[in-house]
Amino acid sequence: IRDDPSSASSYVANYIVQRINHFAPSPTRPFVLGLPTGSSPVGVYRILVEKYKAGEVSFENVVTFNMDEYISLPRDHPQSYHTFMYTHLFSHIDIPPQNVHLLDGNAPNLEAECLAYEAKIQAAGGIDLFLAGIGEDGHIAFNEPGSSLASRTRVKTLTYDTILANSRFFEGGLDQVPKMALTVGVQTVLDASEVVVIVLGARKALALQKCIEQGVNHMWTLSALQLHPHPMIVCDEDATLEL
Ligand code: GLP
Repeated sequence: IRDDPSSASSYVANYIVQRINHFAPSPTRPFVLGLPTGSSPVGVYRILVEKYKAGEVSFENVVTFNMDEYISLPRDHPQSYHTFMYTHLFSHIDIPPQNVHLLDGNAPNLEAECLAYEAKIQAAGGIDLFLAGIGEDGHIAFNEPGSSLASRTRVKTLTYDTILANSRFFEGGLDQVPKMALTVGVQTVLDASEVVVIVLGARKALALQKCIEQGVNHMWTLSALQLHPHPMIVCDEDATLEL
């Protein structure tokens, strides 16, 4: 628990840099990082870019897999997760383009795209560290309430609550938000060697309480983290209001 969002973000960014540097990745043994979007990780990405520019870390031998992407939103749409990741992180660091993996929400065959994504994660040797945020309803990636805790990468219909929460980013509001997305599954996240979740603000307080103080439950999908051997939740004081 950190006092505020900026110290929580610094903690997470420092931790990621430490993990990468300790791993000492090479071209034949890259560090594989799972990454989220949303407002929660923005501070972490800003600090990672600063640390890269200060020469404290290189992403040359880091491979990334993003958690999710909207279906049917053009790749270069301002609110696509593709655009988000290049704007906040990839355009500012030395990661080789072929090391970046994002789901393609415009793939002609979405099911094949999901299967291929899981295969690419396997081929990369699995995810060493999955960074995640959570939705106000406790969802991880786009694993909405009711998702199977054994789920893998697949097509998901977004709930009204998620569409409403994400409409704040779309000019034109609710109607402009895609209603479906591709997402890694809960099990895809649990398969990572380590999972780090950043939770900021009072609007996440109920979700945090449900996910860590109640039982494992498919209605609050982050609660599956209780089954993971190396989980870490980094939150600010406001997110602890219900604990
Ligand atoms: C979306 C993303 C999630 C993210 C959530 C919370 O639903 N698919 O991965 O955790 O938003 O976003 P924010 O951090 O903006 O609250």
